[in-house]
Amino acid sequence: MASVLDSLKKYSVVVADTGDIDAVAKWRPQDTTTNPSLLLAAAQDPRYRALVEASFAKDIESTLDRLFVAFGREILQHIPGRVSTEVDARLSFDEKKSIEKAKQLIRLYEDAGVGRERILIKLASTWEGIRAAGRLEREGIHCNLTLLFSFAQAVACADAGVTLISPFVGRIYDWHKAARKVDDIPAAEDPGVASVTGIYNYYKRHGYATQVMGASFRKTEQILALAGCDLLTIAPDLLEKLNSTSGSIERILSPEKAKSLPIEKLTLNEASYRWQHNQDAMAVEKLAEGIRRFDADARKLEQAIAERLRKSRAAA
Ligand code: E4P
Repeated sequence: MASVLDSLKKYSVVVADTGDIDAVAKWRPQDTTTNPSLLLAAAQDPRYRALVEASFAKDIESTLDRLFVAFGREILQHIPGRVSTEVDARLSFDEKKSIEKAKQLIRLYEDAGVGRERILIKLASTWEGIRAAGRLEREGIHCNLTLLFSFAQAVACADAGVTLISPFVGRIYDWHKAARKVDDIPAAEDPGVASVTGIYNYYKRHGYATQVMGASFRKTEQILALAGCDLLTIAPDLLEKLNSTSGSIERILSPEKAKSLPIEKLTLNEASYRWQHNQDAMAVEKLAEGIRRFDADARKLEQAIAERLRKSRAAA
């Protein structure tokens, strides 16, 4: 009998959420997403030592850019689709520098013979990140807006014409579990699942082209409750669970169902976007924390690389 993973693939594009190249080779997903935390883990793995060392450049910033692109290129060898590469979290509130960094990453990919159509530049869904993405999209650079927790962020992303958004199911669930002091919230009542469902239905109801990729999953129930979402990015341990369970699943989200729903269209300018996002305490806290966490992991990676660069220069 076919696995639940095979069944899910009939309704949603399955993406691997990992920097582990061997895991990508094993699961052969359509696309792959990375982030600074995933790349920190991968760069510290002895299997990828040579890849890290081949990225050494004149300074840390160039080394990290080259490293992210090196992992992206290796991942692309194993998938037919796109890899997401994230812009430095420190630039989350700087539209101009985010654009420059995105273009630098695209330049590195293109110099290595990888076309921009195979890359999604990941930017935090701050007002500045969304504005940067809108401008990059107009120049043919496709973006994945990450750390997305509020409906206001999703509306602003669609209006900016971004290619794809990554609403974070698991981190929304984590926040509500902590707030309610409970160990679990069933998928049917899960605010993370409800958030993605609401965004998906809004986009389809109003004919937006922006794709919705559910991200940050804690358990397979959350994934299955979103079957039909455009894409779902799933970590290797959950891919394994879905693959080792036999059965067929039912489609939950669909454009047809969404089109019949009475959902009002919203128009947000900067002030109303900021107001509405600010009304959602979970989203405000999780966006800020997410930027801090990605930054902290990028700093750890920087330190580890600086140490290895220093040792390799001393040995030369
Ligand atoms: C993917 O694009 C996200 O970065 C990832 O799913 C985040 O997952 P986490 O909340 O488990 O860190």
